[in-house]
Amino acid sequence: MKKHIIAAAALMLAASAVAKPMTDAEKAKMDKFVTELMAKMTLDEKLGQLNLPPSDDIVTGQTINSNIGQAVAKGQVGGTFNIKGAEKIRELQRVAVEESRLGIPLLLGMDVIHGYETVFPIPLALSCSWDMEAIERSARVAAVEASAAGVNWTFSPMVDISRDPRWGRMSEGSGEDPYLGSEIARAMVRGYQGDLKNNDEILACVKHFALYGASEAGRDYNTVDMSRSRMYNEYFAPYKAAVDEGAATVMTSFNLVDGVPATENKWLLDDVLRGQWGFDGMVVTDYGSIGEVSVHGLENLPEASARALDAGTDMDMCSFGFIGTLKQSVENGTVPMENIDKAVRRILEAKYRLGLFENPYKFNDTKREKTHIYTKEHRADARRIAAETFVLLKNDGKVLPLAKKGKVALIGPMANTASNMPGTWSVAADFSKYKTLKQGFEDALKGKAELLYAKGSNVYADYELEKAVTLFGREMRDPRSEDELLAEALKVAAEADVIVAALGEASESSGESSSKTDLTLPDTQRRLLEKLLATGKPVVMLNFSGRPTVLEWESRNVPAILNVWFGGSEAADAIADVVFGDVNPSGKLTATMPVNVGQIPVYYNHFNTGRPKDPANPAYQKYRSNYIDAPNKPLYPFGFGMSYTDFTYTDFTLDSDSMNSNDGKITASVTVTNTGDRAGDEIVQFYIRDVAGSVARPVKELKHFERIRLEPGMSKTVSFTITPEDLKFYNYNLDYVVEPGTFKVMAGPDSERLVSLDFKVL
Ligand code: BGC
Repeated sequence: MKKHIIAAAALMLAASAVAKPMTDAEKAKMDKFVTELMAKMTLDEKLGQLNLPPSDDIVTGQTINSNIGQAVAKGQVGGTFNIKGAEKIRELQRVAVEESRLGIPLLLGMDVIHGYETVFPIPLALSCSWDMEAIERSARVAAVEASAAGVNWTFSPMVDISRDPRWGRMSEGSGEDPYLGSEIARAMVRGYQGDLKNNDEILACVKHFALYGASEAGRDYNTVDMSRSRMYNEYFAPYKAAVDEGAATVMTSFNLVDGVPATENKWLLDDVLRGQWGFDGMVVTDYGSIGEVSVHGLENLPEASARALDAGTDMDMCSFGFIGTLKQSVENGTVPMENIDKAVRRILEAKYRLGLFENPYKFNDTKREKTHIYTKEHRADARRIAAETFVLLKNDGKVLPLAKKGKVALIGPMANTASNMPGTWSVAADFSKYKTLKQGFEDALKGKAELLYAKGSNVYADYELEKAVTLFGREMRDPRSEDELLAEALKVAAEADVIVAALGEASESSGESSSKTDLTLPDTQRRLLEKLLATGKPVVMLNFSGRPTVLEWESRNVPAILNVWFGGSEAADAIADVVFGDVNPSGKLTATMPVNVGQIPVYYNHFNTGRPKDPANPAYQKYRSNYIDAPNKPLYPFGFGMSYTDFTYTDFTLDSDSMNSNDGKITASVTVTNTGDRAGDEIVQFYIRDVAGSVARPVKELKHFERIRLEPGMSKTVSFTITPEDLKFYNYNLDYVVEPGTFKVMAGPDSERLVSLDFKVL
């Protein structure tokens, strides 16, 4: 194996394809190869393959430590992750191939969560585009760039459903809906993997399996406890969809599933994932999660390692439990060799599927790093897609779009920082290449209007807090006092015709380990906003956020609010495109925005309760399911988002009022008309309600959507063909069934403004 001929890696930018399952002949060839290789391996070498140590490269910012190189040479490493730089990766691969006894190449992973150096919007934002082509494209570009830098495995897509914006990791997922989340999971797997043949197609890793998004109280790494009915009906779908699409690897989650840590939960990994869903790829743990088992209050490291392996975990990320304890466990008879062999086989198969045995340097053509990263084409994609993700929440008096004339004041702590734009988990980002919003506005207004700028406030008045949420050198602090910053901003505002307030959270206050109990705008920014509004000039608020934040006060007081999330490396230009009307906003929320934190969890696809509130009466109702001090309804519902134009929905019809439960179908159609004066995209949504089931069914569930473009005055009829598959759910016995009875189908622009018709399933 040491005498590989290193073919010049051909650049293949093949259109993405669904990963085709291997033919029987291909599988037999792989089995033979892996069996022969395993026959040569010692137990130590096998345990080496199960070991995924950290590289410390990106986290510490140092070059990879020599210890890892030595371990690789000794055959003690199956892969490592988060190294940036094709040369460094190639050298490590060389050590594996040339210096280890069997020359088995490494898996080289990275958290390429929403792009490499061309950074796309955070995944929550991407989901708000409801644009599967765009999302697939973002993953494709990420794979092209990451692979050009030597990465062959991304720890993405993160498909955890979450209904709790206190949990900072909502930023990394696709919001609260299992159907939309599943479509997105599929698109991302397609984008990363293609058919896993070319040197720009890399392994995807679906995470975090499972239920990580249901952390109690929104506190990261916290306990999860839920019924199996809820798991199957509300949380599992996106993981399964990614597996169905051919995702090659799965990452376990940190949390308990039914009282047992996911990493060693045999029911979850063996029965559900491999048994029921037929997953035949490789399972990796999350960072250190075997080691955390004893902290959860279960066994020690040797026992946890044995159980994790037995449950179906193959690769140990950073716990050193497999490499550190399994040899002894095999020798003392507590771990059967068969379990080790199963895991080794799956890891070698992943390497085989990547083509690493044929050409271990397949992803190490260092020339590509210079030509395929942060290209003009990729940046144009990121800019176009980012603009689709912004959600226009309010636009009284059509303040937006702004004309490119007069004096525009850009004020706020988010206005002049490049490092805060891309968003959390931009591990390969190069902030020096990105524009600040101020630069984006300057470019957009050049020669047409004057741009004024003031910072106005820090993110938080409290320096310690701000430091904690501006990691990785994303330091944004202004040494002046909050009063001085405010005074300067008011002077600037006084000169302006219109004010754009760039406010929100720092990007690292969402993402991993960034839970929050207060989701309102930090006090110092609220004070700034109040004073800007008091000038009486038109104010547009840009809300930078990695989660649904609480904008109750703003929704009453600010005329125009555009939620811009964290829009990636090209966010500055994309925001300018939308603010100044070159692009009409079209994003719609994929996670409910609450009135206040006390409403959480608040989500659209809830059950009805036995005592629902009378929706016609907004007042508090005694002995009904409602709050004394807040409405049940959220501030902005799932699916909500405005446009600069207006759309109307008419002629909602069904082509039949009944269907057969086996193979019947009904087509629901609705006509959407652009009644405004500019072209725009609308996301047409269809929901289903199963009125009476053998178990309680949600008040509505998204089942279909379509993104359409309409010129002013134009109409389009959008249809949804309902089949039994759209009506199925897991019953009390967890059988996937459609039950005869009455159903409702609803259509509209969001999850609340819906027209509804009944039909029967016979
Ligand atoms: C995160 C994962 C990530 C891993 C490797 C963990 O802390 O939960 O999402 O892939 O680290 O960086």
